[in-house]
Amino acid sequence: MKIGVIGAGYVGLITSVCLADRGYAVQCWDSDERKISLLSSGKSPIFEESLEPLLKKNIGKNFSVENVSKMPGKLKDFDVVFVCVGTPSRQDGSVDLTQIYSAADSIAMGLKSLGGGKRILIVVKSTVIPGTTEELKRYLEKKTGLKSGGDFGIAMSPEFLREGLAVKDFFYPDRMVFGVEEKKDYALLSSLFAFVKCPMMETDLKTAEMIKYASNAFLATKISFINEIGNLGKKLGIDAYEVAKGMGLDSRIGPKFLEAGIGFGGSCFPKDVKALVAKFKQEKISAAVLESVMAINEKQPLLLVEVACRREGSFKGKAVGVLGLAFKAGTDDMRESRAIPIVNALVSEGAKVIAFDPEATDNARKIFGSKINYASNAKDVISKCDFIFVLTAWPEFKEDIYGSKHVYDGRRILPGKSGGNYEGICW
Ligand code: UGA
Repeated sequence: MKIGVIGAGYVGLITSVCLADRGYAVQCWDSDERKISLLSSGKSPIFEESLEPLLKKNIGKNFSVENVSKMPGKLKDFDVVFVCVGTPSRQDGSVDLTQIYSAADSIAMGLKSLGGGKRILIVVKSTVIPGTTEELKRYLEKKTGLKSGGDFGIAMSPEFLREGLAVKDFFYPDRMVFGVEEKKDYALLSSLFAFVKCPMMETDLKTAEMIKYASNAFLATKISFINEIGNLGKKLGIDAYEVAKGMGLDSRIGPKFLEAGIGFGGSCFPKDVKALVAKFKQEKISAAVLESVMAINEKQPLLLVEVACRREGSFKGKAVGVLGLAFKAGTDDMRESRAIPIVNALVSEGAKVIAFDPEATDNARKIFGSKINYASNAKDVISKCDFIFVLTAWPEFKEDIYGSKHVYDGRRILPGKSGGNYEGICW
């Protein structure tokens, strides 16, 4: 079976490289020449620890990558094509489908030249609002004059992998969801992924799309929920992690995603919850829960600044250390990182910020530029600063490195009880 993948972003790369590693011949297409040349030399354009060894092993063998302009002429050689392009937020929170439709134009060109000679299954893996894959199908039909079902198949299979753990999540997912219009497409996809041992669910296109949004929105809700409980707990002298432990022992609740802190960031939760809220609005339905989830998440990082301010007074002219800038440990990704509003607040209060992150400094420079200083290790930050904010749970920040400095912990990286030199946000 020959597999094509459009988009060499997070989802596209992991899908391509992991399927190639399982013995499939995989061709990936992207429009970014820098990415193509990096990948062709075996280097990953993203920081994902276990990806590069698999990439090096498979590049030029089962896996290759080239410009998407070459795709239409080659489409006939492929059995399944995954669409893994980005679906960023527009200004109003709704999804920008420009990349989806640009991929659709390339697919349409290829399908048209095939003229229905071979049935290729197009599988949308990008996160798209319910109804999008069906619209895409109609768009392809209109552009090519072909009929879905007979001439080409369409499916929607959401991706649930986490950054930093993406390869592991690909091979050992909790479940796979295949939204299809025909039984044979479910059979094809479940046999393609037969090497993955997990429950596989067959459903329709728009339910598959909704499962992805509802899953991310639910996890984001758990986080904002425990943060809200933790904010009250902070006032009452109650540790949110003890509360979460007690709650999590109830198997109906479970212990995961109840880690209180400065909130959720990354390329997915904020974008997906906003997109879902925008869809509620478009359908004129109240999204009270999800709007609150976002509102809590917006305020949450600034509460840590308030905790510090209560104790330190004004930040003006003070050297303030920031350990951790990435949206979570194990990645260099700064997108929607909760460190961004914290650093901006400190700078606007007149603090001299000195920051360190083991991986995200290059990306941080693109956001903060010379507004802050960048150190090359944690000890340097601690020695130069009056007090320290810990914003990402990198394991090296757990070490006993703080001496007598005041520490404000947004990620429960230190097991310390609040009081003395140490303050947590929700404990
Ligand atoms: C998330 C989902 O976990 C994946 O299942 C999904 O596939 C992915 O989005 C996506 O849609 O592509 P990811 O963004 O990589 O994955 O990161 P998570 O590990 O879920 O963490 C998201 C944010 O929530 C981080 O800022 C993290 O620090 C925060 N978080 C997580 C908490 O504040 N508390 C928790 O208990 C868990």
